[in-house]
Amino acid sequence: MILPSTFISRPPEERPGTHPDVDRDFIGRLVRDFYRRVRRDERLGPIFAAVVQDDWEPHLEKMTDFWCSVILKDGSYSGRPVPAHLKLKQVREEDFELWLCHFRATAEETCPPGVAATFIDRAERIARSLVLAMFFRLECPTPEGSREIACA
Ligand code: HEM
Repeated sequence: MILPSTFISRPPEERPGTHPDVDRDFIGRLVRDFYRRVRRDERLGPIFAAVVQDDWEPHLEKMTDFWCSVILKDGSYSGRPVPAHLKLKQVREEDFELWLCHFRATAEETCPPGVAATFIDRAERIARSLVLAMFFRLECPTPEGSREIACA
């Protein structure tokens, strides 16, 4: 019999939500370490500064809610990341690789053994969906059979 994946017991390192050290305080520290790096980055820093300006605390709290929802599944985040990023016209597709570099380095430095991989995997998946939402356009067939990029 094939069991649904929710019934299959995974090793603890693949369930960081159940790791004793991974709680809201831990996630808050990880978020703060990550954005400390991002703010120092000469490409990403100004993009955040233009939106967040000097009022970082609400953004950091929101991002802590977001990561608590992703990892601890506590439902504390109720925003919509796609529209928030669609309005950032200065962001380029390659900026996401830079963002992920900082995230990987922070997670590897901060997380207990085995836990970083899950944070990084979730970040990579969400980054992929944001990139698709921001930069991918379906090609629509035209009556002549040629293809053009449109579908706005
Ligand atoms: C180049 C990459 C990225 C840049 C430059 C960027 C920039 C930003 C900025 C400036 C905001 C604030 C928007 C506002 O308050 O109006 C924001 C919000 C947010 N970002 Fe990103 N971001 C990036 C990638 C990501 C990734 C990969 C994730 C998730 C893994 C993420 C998750 C979020 C979330 C959850 C919010 C809050 C949205 C809301 O509910 O208002 N971002 N981002």
